[in-house]
Amino acid sequence: MAATDAYIEESIRSPDAKIVDGYSAGLMQNDYGGLSAEDMNALIAYIASR
Ligand code: HEM
Repeated sequence: MAATDAYIEESIRSPDAKIVDGYSAGLMQNDYGGLSAEDMNALIAYIASR
């Protein structure tokens, strides 16, 4: 699946905003919205590279 940076960021900040078929809302903790912009961008770049 080709996830865009915007989709990855939304999935980190608001894990239940979009749920992949077969998964339930509420599984992933919503604890990562407080990352600094630098950390968030680094994390998105890492996930997008996988
Ligand atoms: C207890 C740890 C975690 C659990 C149980 C968990 C669970 C899940 C589940 C079930 C999904 C698929 C459902 C959905 O689309 O919302 C998901 C998606 C996602 N999670 Fe987590 N998660 C965890 C930790 C994390 C962490 C630490 C990050 C990064 C900071 C992260 C980033 C993402 C992203 C980017 C997606 C979207 C992936 C996609 O749609 O292909 N998750 N998570």
